[in-house]
Amino acid sequence: MTDMATSVLWLALSEPAGPPGSGRRRYGAAMALHASGALSTAQLEAYREAATADAVEPFRVMADRGLTPPVPPAPDAAARLAHLLAETDRCLAALSGPGIAETRTLLAAALLQKPDPRPGRANLVVETHMETALEAAKTIDPTLAAAIAAATGDLTWITYDAYPPAQIGPHFTRSHAFCSLIGATAPWRASDFDLGLFLVAPGILYRDHAHPAPELYLPLTGPHRWRFAPDGPFRTLPALQPVWNPALKPHATLTGALPFLSLFAWTRDVDQPAHVLPASDWSLYE
Ligand SMILES: [Fe+2]
Repeated sequence: MTDMATSVLWLALSEPAGPPGSGRRRYGAAMALHASGALSTAQLEAYREAATADAVEPFRVMADRGLTPPVPPAPDAAARLAHLLAETDRCLAALSGPGIAETRTLLAAALLQKPDPRPGRANLVVETHMETALEAAKTIDPTLAAAIAAATGDLTWITYDAYPPAQIGPHFTRSHAFCSLIGATAPWRASDFDLGLFLVAPGILYRDHAHPAPELYLPLTGPHRWRFAPDGPFRTLPALQPVWNPALKPHATLTGALPFLSLFAWTRDVDQPAHVLPASDWSLYE
């Protein structure tokens, strides 16, 4: 087993107790680590017992038996990123709707590759809002939230500045950041697919816009408000409600009381820029 594969197993072993299937996933990782000699048979047995109920904390079972819990090695950047991409796929796999299968097919090709980590790039929006966003995301998908928290510093966060300032407005420009996990210069290379994370401060309007790239959003916080026609009414959507924007479909997002933290994917035409669409009511929301 490679060092990275072992590190990813240790991260899987540390999955928080509670989410459906988490007990079985931890036990699966424990079996592989036991087979490689990293866990004792008694420790493995504790993970087996804890797997009978997702809410049972394996360390508690070990404490009851007088066992010392395993001490995972510190994961490196490649392992943190690999765990994040695997968790992203797990989260998507539980959902259905337009764009999900297409995104997972493209993601599957990346999962076969080894990530190429690069130095992370900090961003003021991330420093200001990520902690609050992850606290909220923890109540929606604690495992994915933990994987994002572990890898945030490994990611190249960018504030997009290609929109004409007069069209996108002054608020969104300084209130968002995104990073790519898969893309032309991301840890996983893809020539015409982009998948990553998007963070926007609370109470911000991302004005009506469109782009040739079909786009999937999977918000990990919520509720936030959306509309799909300039000047139309906004509707409120909860966390984990996927939003699929077909090519050139207008869309706007009005973030709620929490920071907006979302997975995003552009499934093709990623080099074609987005453009702002005029609307007459932006001042009501900004
Ligand atoms: Fe978009």
